[in-house]
Amino acid sequence: MVPGARAPAASVLRGLVALAGAAVLWFSGAAEARVLLTLDDFGAVGDGIANDTQAFVDAWTAACGSEEQAVLAVPVAKAYQIWPVQLSGPCKKKLKLLIAGTIVAPASPDEWAGRDPMKWLYIYGVDGLSVSGGGTIDGVGQEWWARSCKRKKTQPCNTRPPPRALHFEECRGVSVQGVTLQNGPQFHLSFTRCVDVKANFLRVVAPVDSPNTDGVHLNDSSRVQITDNLISTGDDCVSMVGNCSDVRVRDISCGPGHGISIGSLGKNRTTDRVENVRVDTCLLTNTTNGVRIKSWQGGMGSALDLRFESIVMKNVSNPIIIDQYYCDQPTPCANQTEAVEVRKVEFVDVRGTSATAQAIKIACSDTLPCRVLELRNVNLTMVGGGAATASCYRASGKAVGAVAPASCLAKGDP
Ligand SMILES: *[C@@H]1O[C@H](CO)[C@@H](O)[C@H](O)[C@H]1NC(C)=O
Ligand SMILES: *[C@@H]1O[C@H](CO)[C@@H](O)[C@H](O)[C@H]1NC(C)=O
Ligand SMILES: *[C@@H]1O[C@H](CO)[C@@H](O)[C@H](O)[C@H]1NC(C)=O
Ligand SMILES: *[C@@H]1O[C@H](CO)[C@@H](O)[C@H](O)[C@H]1NC(C)=O
Ligand SMILES: *[C@@H]1O[C@H](CO)[C@@H](O)[C@H](O)[C@H]1NC(C)=O
Ligand SMILES: *[C@@H]1O[C@H](CO)[C@@H](O)[C@H](O)[C@H]1NC(C)=O
Ligand SMILES: *[C@@H]1O[C@H](CO)[C@@H](O)[C@H](O)[C@H]1NC(C)=O
Ligand SMILES: *[C@@H]1O[C@H](CO)[C@@H](O)[C@H](O)[C@H]1NC(C)=O
Repeated sequence: MVPGARAPAASVLRGLVALAGAAVLWFSGAAEARVLLTLDDFGAVGDGIANDTQAFVDAWTAACGSEEQAVLAVPVAKAYQIWPVQLSGPCKKKLKLLIAGTIVAPASPDEWAGRDPMKWLYIYGVDGLSVSGGGTIDGVGQEWWARSCKRKKTQPCNTRPPPRALHFEECRGVSVQGVTLQNGPQFHLSFTRCVDVKANFLRVVAPVDSPNTDGVHLNDSSRVQITDNLISTGDDCVSMVGNCSDVRVRDISCGPGHGISIGSLGKNRTTDRVENVRVDTCLLTNTTNGVRIKSWQGGMGSALDLRFESIVMKNVSNPIIIDQYYCDQPTPCANQTEAVEVRKVEFVDVRGTSATAQAIKIACSDTLPCRVLELRNVNLTMVGGGAATASCYRASGKAVGAVAPASCLAKGDP
């Protein structure tokens, strides 16, 4: 039998329910037997120094294979050092990972020798996993950032990026709520090919000069809610690439960092389709971008039906930006005719201050201009006071209500 404490038998609970009619729902919800396992049950030390990887893997295997709903706890006030792991599902029952203490990565990138450099906590193929508990996942990215060519220009660029902290692939019904993710070597929380995902009540923090440390990153994922988070890192607070749809981003405090980004899309001539994204009620402070859509030339697909609403900017360098000429590589990107189409994008109730004179910057492709854009009740001024400007290239749409700086969108969508 697996170690751990079992919940009271269902029959006892049913008796209690009979006594307390008002609590029927609560008790019947708890009536299903559950099993609580802790890392310590599997021999973990939790001093931040010992190698607790095998204990974590064993605990996962037991919890994931449990016939009863399992809660796998990372005990509070302890730190468990975990080497790169691949955990997989599907599990027999819904699984909860209750992180109350800290999970910490090895500090040296050399520990990844002979392993996939892009993975640390990698979870594949789970259905119905929740992560919560108020604890911390610490990627200890300092040495990775120091070796990055983005920070140290003399350093050659690695062909493969550093590990993502918590990375899900092929998942369904996953929620990550109420934990801290910090100092990721690369992205902090990422989802690839996932559906029905929640990332709520998170604190995601890394230094402003840590490269590629996006807060929450989506790739080929749909039906996603990212809400009630504080994200302050060296890169995008939220980013999405590939084919993503039905994404809600709400109640986010973002900054410093690079803002909220759709893209980059179309890198290496890929076909990407991002559709039905709503971003609302976000406060961006000291970020290099506010709300951004970026795509590489030569890409294909579309960014379609996007709405950014109730956004407050404080000292943001490019508050509203659409860039179909994105080029994040050492050599200049040649102009190409293909482009990722940008259509039906609304910016509603966006106000605050821009760190640069140009608060609205829309640069679209000659062959595939941006269309059906809308600016509605926008008021962006320069941070020191004074009017900001807007620039548009190959972009059409309309301005509604008071729009400052004055809209530069061409009228009359084709
Ligand atoms: C820690 O344990 C894991 C799992 O057993 C192993 O893969 C890794 O190499 C260990 N690290 C060290 C430094 O021994
Ligand atoms: C998105 O995920 C796919 C695999 O599904 C991968 O091939 C692609 O490189 C990823 N894109 C980015 C920008 O990470
Ligand atoms: C994304 O969608 C496009 C168009 O629907 C499709 O051609 C492409 O293969 C999709 N990419 C992935 C990774 O599913
Ligand atoms: C992108 O294309 C370049 C050159 O064509 C190639 O070297 C590189 O591996 C590609 N990257 C990806 C992620 O496919
Ligand atoms: C924004 O940046 C300024 C200047 O570096 C700093 O004084 C201020 O505290 C920052 N605000 C936030 C919320 O980080
Ligand atoms: C605005 O941000 C810039 C960096 O982009 C910083 O130098 C400046 O101090 C900030 N100003 C305020 C008022 O926060
Ligand atoms: C690419 O096209 C844009 C828009 O026509 C133009 O401003 C830019 O100079 C061109 N760049 C190159 C490298 O040809
Ligand atoms: C725009 O914001 C400025 C600075 O906060 C304020 O003085 C001005 O009244 C606002 N304009 C509108 C139309 O709300």
